[in-house]
Amino acid sequence: MTWLSRRGDTALSGNSHQGSDPASPSANHSTTRPIEAKPSEPAAILTEKPPVAPPEGGHLLPPDQLNELKQRVHEQLVRELDLDKLQQKRGPELRKAVEGALAVMLLDQETPISRAERQRLVREIADEALGLGPLEPLLDDPTVSEIMVNGPRKVYVERNGLLSLTDVYFRDETHIMRIIEKIVSPLGRRIDEASPMVDARLADGSRVNAIIPPLAVDSPILTIRKFSKDPLTAADLIRFGSLSEEVITFLKACIEARINMVVAGGTGSGKTTMLNVLSSFIPHRERIVTIEDPVEMQFRQPHVIRLETRPANIEGKGEVTQRQLVRNALRMRPDRIIVGEVRSGEAFDMLQAMNTGHDGSLTTIHANTPRDALARIENMVLMANLDLPVKAIREQVASAIHLILQLSRLRDGSRRVTHVTEVIGMESEVITMQDIFVFRQQGVDANGKIIGSIQPTGLRPHCIDKIEREGINLPPDLFAPRSFDRGSYR
Ligand SMILES: Nc1ncnc2c1ncn2[C@@H]1O[C@H](COP(=O)(O)OP(=O)(O)O)[C@@H](O)[C@H]1O
Ligand SMILES: [Mg+2]
Repeated sequence: MTWLSRRGDTALSGNSHQGSDPASPSANHSTTRPIEAKPSEPAAILTEKPPVAPPEGGHLLPPDQLNELKQRVHEQLVRELDLDKLQQKRGPELRKAVEGALAVMLLDQETPISRAERQRLVREIADEALGLGPLEPLLDDPTVSEIMVNGPRKVYVERNGLLSLTDVYFRDETHIMRIIEKIVSPLGRRIDEASPMVDARLADGSRVNAIIPPLAVDSPILTIRKFSKDPLTAADLIRFGSLSEEVITFLKACIEARINMVVAGGTGSGKTTMLNVLSSFIPHRERIVTIEDPVEMQFRQPHVIRLETRPANIEGKGEVTQRQLVRNALRMRPDRIIVGEVRSGEAFDMLQAMNTGHDGSLTTIHANTPRDALARIENMVLMANLDLPVKAIREQVASAIHLILQLSRLRDGSRRVTHVTEVIGMESEVITMQDIFVFRQQGVDANGKIIGSIQPTGLRPHCIDKIEREGINLPPDLFAPRSFDRGSYR
């Protein structure tokens, strides 16, 4: 007989508040009352007169013993789980059943623990059994945007662009490995000495990278970029000061007028987020084909086809590259092609597409300046080994790409658009560009926050003609330089 049928009912119904703060009186109350109300429960005595009165929420057991208890109960849970019964339950219901069972198991233990500790253990063991263990609270925390496991006791998070060490920890390196395996094995991937690096995606869309020893020298390393359920919008970016309303007005007109754009920036500078915002301006009547590795973008438009690359399987077969997908996309009658990030040979096919009637295509690239972005695209095409002379490649680049949006993550953690740069053409061997908007820093405030804003340079973009031909009229002073007045740009 198993716990579920033996005495699950009382425990289950008594644990309906498992999500609430363990320190709150109501959570304590609802979890413990039904169990303590049963005089036959030996553990109830323990909670009435603990050998040493622990402060509520404080540690009674040394961490070692607590861990040992945790492990023991976890093993008991695995041993006694009635899988047939559990499989009929899902999501919150399953969680509730497991937490109820754990509460009972913990009460049955000889080891004395405080209520708060018991509640914490119930949560942690359930996280371990059903989820990603110590990472669960971080995955649930909406203020955390990235999670970085550098070692069992070195778990960092990013909040508002800044890193901080958490008090979340793993038992040891093997524990981290177990969690990594838990992420990758349902996807038919594996991680071991033969394939020590893996990219994966969690069920909620969060991106995961894992790399293990010997490549990662000290510990298995796990990096999770959390999927935001509400992607940032243009209004958010304006509110954060990442760009201005004028810039958005211009970019929206560019999208509608099918200007080909490249979003450039470093890792985590906000490229994908910007691509998402830009694509939200694409008219709903258009057919969009996206190519990503892995998929991240979120669309509101009805007519979107999402393609995703596939890594090689365990025998090294079946890989599908971005380049193959771009070529396939061209046969799908796309109005727009969006490539999540160009990294290699697909750059060539993307240029071809942009130059042959698939105007309004978008992509991102890892680059530090607009000029760097062009150089990298050129390099990618060269590397694709097509035997094209550099000048020919450059001409292709110059005619395909109309606008570059440069993003940066500044020292204070803020993400900003630093340049909106137009590609004009070629002068002998060199691609010519002009900045339309640039970020101007004015100083740093007392908290180290960078003060500044993105300003028009005063140059009128050439693409304005194309925009006007589309019947879009921009405010005449949109590109006029602002006067410098009383220490601030206006
Ligand atoms: N302008 C912004 N202001 C604040 N946070 C941002 C901004 N743009 C992106 N982010 C956040 O930064 C993280 C990385 O963004 P992402 O677009 O994935 O970067 P990239 O594609 O350049 O690696 C995400 O958590 C995202 O929500
Ligand atoms: Mg990205």
